[in-house]
Amino acid sequence: MKDCVIITGGTRGIGLTTALKYANDKVHMILTYKSNLKASSNAKNIIKKHFSNFSIIKCNPSTKNDLNKFTKFIKKNKFNVKTLINNQGSTKYINIKNNDLNIRLIQEMMEKNLFNHIKMINLVLPFMKKGSSIINVSSIAAINGKGSNIGYCAAKSALDSVTRSLTHLLAPKVRVNSVCPGLTTTDMTKKAPNKYKKNQISITPMKRLAEPEDIANAIYSISELNTFISGQSIIVDGGRLLN
Ligand SMILES: NC(=O)c1ccc[n+]([C@@H]2O[C@H](COP(=O)([O-])OP(=O)(O)OC[C@H]3O[C@@H](n4cnc5c(N)ncnc54)[C@H](OP(=O)(O)O)[C@@H]3O)[C@@H](O)[C@H]2O)c1
Repeated sequence: MKDCVIITGGTRGIGLTTALKYANDKVHMILTYKSNLKASSNAKNIIKKHFSNFSIIKCNPSTKNDLNKFTKFIKKNKFNVKTLINNQGSTKYINIKNNDLNIRLIQEMMEKNLFNHIKMINLVLPFMKKGSSIINVSSIAAINGKGSNIGYCAAKSALDSVTRSLTHLLAPKVRVNSVCPGLTTTDMTKKAPNKYKKNQISITPMKRLAEPEDIANAIYSISELNTFISGQSIIVDGGRLLN
């Protein structure tokens, strides 16, 4: 059986930077993406310099067909899923001060930032052995309820809750943790208003936004180095939540 690491949303931003942390580990790296072929081709050019065994696969967990194909791929290759990094996610920037208790938007956020992760966990669990790890990429929005919209904050909070429940359920076979980044310089935040970004920097004690490297270091360390951490939501925000 070959050990693999799955990083959902691994072709850009935090996911791609995290993949590179595994360059010296003897694993088959599997990166998933939703639809951006240009980003996936760029990721391939980067990843092939660091990994002799890797796969980049379109898998939107909201699409049954993608999930079925992905399951078949894992089965066919007899992979042992050593690590699942549930990193894919997306949001919409709607000023939270406006009343955005829009059920459709909240449902969309739940689907993209919670249910998709749960579907991936269901998919990989039969292929995990003792000593495996799951990391859910959450957000500080899960904790302070501030962020791009109410549904996004709610979905990330629920993801942290699922992290804790799964820790009870899956221990001691599988450890489950989440990582909560502050605002990070990726494509996702390119769409955030400049005024919002400037304000985030001014209220962050470290006086900068997070870089994908900051988040990737935390993910790798919790998943692969600190094997006694389980059920935690680790904040990586330069002290932002203190203000
Ligand atoms: N950036 C921040 O400030 C920040 C802060 C806190 C938390 N986070 C969380 O960190 C994670 C990564 O964010 P990022 O900033 O690195 O994002 P990003 O640069 O926008 O990259 C997103 C990645 O996820 C993939 N993806 C999006 N929706 C997907 C879906 N439904 N199915 C499969 N793949 C999907 C994208 O694929 P395509 O290229 O095909 O679209 C891409 O590979 C997210 O969960 C986000 O909520 C980010």
